[in-house]
Amino acid sequence: MTIDIDPKDVRPGPPPPIDILDKHSNRAFFIRFTLVVVLLHAVAGGLVLASRIVGQQEPDMEQQRELIARRIAPVGLVATSDQELAALTPVAAPAAPRSGPQVVAQVCGACHASGMLGAPKSHDKAAWAAREKAAGGPDGLLKSAIRGKGQMPPKGGDPSLGEQELRDAIAAMR
Ligand code: HEC
Repeated sequence: MTIDIDPKDVRPGPPPPIDILDKHSNRAFFIRFTLVVVLLHAVAGGLVLASRIVGQQEPDMEQQRELIARRIAPVGLVATSDQELAALTPVAAPAAPRSGPQVVAQVCGACHASGMLGAPKSHDKAAWAAREKAAGGPDGLLKSAIRGKGQMPPKGGDPSLGEQELRDAIAAMR
């Protein structure tokens, strides 16, 4: 006995589950292939990120060059002429001139505040007047201060002092 089945009566059941290891299924192959491509992308992206991070830690070329130059710089330099020496010597900025009271406080006062070694004491008008007379005027006192006199070294021992600074210092002590 035969049973006639009307195609209209056949209802499609749920699709069979996919076995992605199925060697004969196109769908299974497509899923495997897609998974491999995604995995390779992830690996490539990871490598790009890692290279960026490592690249950031490296000093850039400019810094590299500077570091190398510093490492291979000669220990000393030899100047064979005055011009070369001047080019190699950093120029010290000229110090701002000090005021009379400043110079006295820093240099002259060491002796002149107390009259040490027979120095004329600060503000001893009579002593300074006698000194000025003997030296032949204010310029004579300045000359003594520049050259030194008796126990007093030239410029009171500070060769960086200029003429005006010495003049102001003498005026501040009189
Ligand atoms: C180390 C001590 C000492 C210091 C520092 C010193 N003096 Fe004198 N000064 C003397 C002595 C000592 C005399 C007296 C010298 C003499 O008549 O033999 C003197 C004398 C002088 C006189 C008188 C000179 C003369 O012709 O009679 C002047 C001006 C003078 N000092 C200026 C200065 C000035 C300005 C400074 C600071 C820049 C200074 N001194 C720093 C010891 C010092």
